[in-house]
Amino acid sequence: MNTVIRVENLGKKYLISHQRSERYVALRDVITEGTKKIVKRMVRPGSALSQTKEEFWALRNVDFEIKEGDRVGIIGRNGAGKTTILKLLSRITEPSEGRIVIKGRIASLLEVGTGFHPELTGRENIFLNGAILGMSKSEIKRKFDEIVDFAEVEKFLDTPVKRYSSGMYVRLAFAVASHLEPEILIVDEVLAVGDAKFQKKSLDKMEDVSREGRTVLFVSHNMPAIESLCSRGILLDEGNVILDTDVNTVVRSYLEKAMTDYKKIDLERRVDRHGSGKIRVIGFRVLNDDNNEVKFLQSGKNYCFEIRYKNNAKKILKNVEVSFDIYDEKNSRVLLFRTNFTNDNLDLDSSDGKICCKVNNLPLANGIYHFSVFIVYEELEVLDYITEIAYITVDGGDFFGTGSLGLPSHCKVLHKAEWYAE
Ligand SMILES: Nc1ncnc2c1ncn2[C@@H]1O[C@H](COP(=O)(O)OP(=O)(O)OP(=O)(O)O)[C@@H](O)[C@H]1O
Ligand SMILES: [Mg+2]
Repeated sequence: MNTVIRVENLGKKYLISHQRSERYVALRDVITEGTKKIVKRMVRPGSALSQTKEEFWALRNVDFEIKEGDRVGIIGRNGAGKTTILKLLSRITEPSEGRIVIKGRIASLLEVGTGFHPELTGRENIFLNGAILGMSKSEIKRKFDEIVDFAEVEKFLDTPVKRYSSGMYVRLAFAVASHLEPEILIVDEVLAVGDAKFQKKSLDKMEDVSREGRTVLFVSHNMPAIESLCSRGILLDEGNVILDTDVNTVVRSYLEKAMTDYKKIDLERRVDRHGSGKIRVIGFRVLNDDNNEVKFLQSGKNYCFEIRYKNNAKKILKNVEVSFDIYDEKNSRVLLFRTNFTNDNLDLDSSDGKICCKVNNLPLANGIYHFSVFIVYEELEVLDYITEIAYITVDGGDFFGTGSLGLPSHCKVLHKAEWYAE
C-alpha cells in the first residue's frame, strides 16, 4: 500500500501565559480569534501578558506513517494533542519542528467546520470546498443534492453560513467533507455536536466512506464509535504517541490507563484523610447485578459501590451517616448519595464489614469518574473522610433505552424528561 501521510519528528510549540489558568480556554479562544491574533496579543512588547509567557509543547517527537485506506482513530485525554495533530495535517497551523508529507486531497472537519467561509452562503461554500478538493463544477453538481439532503439545510442554502445555528453549520460541514470524495478524510469529534439522530447518521456515513477504501483519521472520545470505524489506533498522551497499533488494543489501554492509579492506591495505608479513625475505609469495589467486580460501568445498569471498612472502636456504632460522592474528570461533584437523605443511616458492626451503596439505573454519561467517602457519627464526629478512593470508566450502555448516549462532553448526569407541546 502507498504511504499517503508521513510525519517525522513533528512538534508544535505554543506560547502560553500564566494569567490564563486553563490552557483549554486558550484553545477555544484560538478557534474563534485565530492563532496569529492570539500569539500577537500574547507577545506584544510591554503588555502585561508578555511578562508571563512561556513555551509549551502541545506535541513533540511525533512520528507515524499512514497508508492508503488506513482507518485511524486518534485518542487521548483532553489536551493530549489530538486536535493539534489534525490542524497540522490540515495545514491550519504550521509545525514548530519536524515535517509532514501528504499525498492526496484532504477534507478536514475540525471543531468548527474550519473549511467554511462565513460570508458565503451554504451553496457557495459547497462549491468552494469542492473546488479546493480539485473537483470540477459538474462533479460537485452531481453531489450537490445529496449534500443538501444529508445536511437538512435546504431552506437556508442561500443564507450566509455565519447566520447558521451551530447545529446547521456542523451538519453542512460534515456533509460537505464526507460527500465530496476527498482521498483523505479528517474528522474531529463531530459526533459530539449534532443531536442524537445526526450523530447516528454521521457515524453511518463515516462507515460508508471507510468502506469505500478511503483514508480516514478520526478523533473521538466515543470509544465504541472509534472501535467500529477504525482498524488502527494512535494513543496520545501529553503530546507524545505512546501507542500505535490495532484499535482494540489501543482503546483498552486508554481505558485501563485511568485504572492504574486506582490499583496503586492502598486505601488502608493512605494518610491523606480526615476523621477520628474509629472507622477506616480500607477497600473499595464496584459489583454488578451478578455480584462480580467490574472495572468498566455502563449507563443505565445497576451497581453496588462496595466500601470495606475496619471498625477500630471495636463496638457497634449505631446511626452512622455515610456519604458517597461521585466526581467527574474535571473534579466537579456530579452525584451525592447520603444515608440520611433517605433515612438509611447504618449500624456498623463491631468487627470489620462492608457498606453497599446500591445505585440502580446508573445515570452517568460516558467518562472517567472518581469517588469520595465521608462517614459521620452522631452528626458531629467525622469517623473517616477520604477522597479519590477509586477511578472508574463509564463506557457505553443504554440509559434512555433509545441507544442515545446523551452528550457526555456537555453533561455528565443523565435523566429522562417527559416532553409535550401545548
Ligand atoms: N493556540 C494555542 N495556544 C496555546 N495552547 C494551545 C493552543 N492550541 C492548543 N493548545 C494547548 O495544546 C494542548 C493540546 O491541545 P489539543 O487541542 O490538541 O488537545 P486535544 O487532544 O484535542 O484535547 P480535547 O480532547 O480536549 O479536544 C492543550 O494543552 C491545549 O490547551
Ligand atoms: Mg480536540
